[in-house]
Amino acid sequence: MAAWEEKFESKISEVATVDDPAHDLLHFRRVVALSKDLCRRENGNPEVVVPAAWLHDLVIVPKDSPLRSQASRLSAEKAIEFLGQLGYPEKYFEPIFHAIHGHSFSANVDVKTIEAKIVQDADRLDGLGAIGVARCFATAGLLKRAFYNMDDPFCDEREPDDAQFTIDHFYKKLFKTAKTMKTKSGLEEGQRRVESMRVFLDSLRSEILR
Ligand SMILES: [Fe+2]
Ligand SMILES: [Fe+2]
Repeated sequence: MAAWEEKFESKISEVATVDDPAHDLLHFRRVVALSKDLCRRENGNPEVVVPAAWLHDLVIVPKDSPLRSQASRLSAEKAIEFLGQLGYPEKYFEPIFHAIHGHSFSANVDVKTIEAKIVQDADRLDGLGAIGVARCFATAGLLKRAFYNMDDPFCDEREPDDAQFTIDHFYKKLFKTAKTMKTKSGLEEGQRRVESMRVFLDSLRSEILR
């Protein structure tokens, strides 16, 4: 697998950009490492999980593009085309396609295999925990969005509005994401990451509310 992985990594390096730290090469490395870990715990097939994890976002479509909901299908098609050129064993193409297609929220695919569940969990887990906090604030910078609402930073008395406030994204999306994990190990890790985000919010509360 190591020789294959070198090829997967060099392919994904062509699209992973430094413009968006939420989707740079480090993101792919983390998702691959996490996928391997979940794969061991959940008894998935690494021949399917590892290429799918490396190539899960081979086609990157901007958040505001009408093609956005098709990004994971386009990535799956491109990945299979690439694996074909490499001479990767064809018997894995169908489950790899399904795992890549199914990973994204916007594709809304019902993930059927343990391998697809693993890649989806790994990608979502990377948005949680300490790294999730880092990614969330990096995105805030890109979108020029405020860190928090001055009057009610932690949404104690209002609906979260993550178009305006970064901390609101924790409440609007991230904490809910932790509950969408499909594997047992993913759910446990998601819970751990939510705890660490709550610790972060507690520290922030003590620093900004005086
Ligand atoms: Fe993705
Ligand atoms: Fe991703």
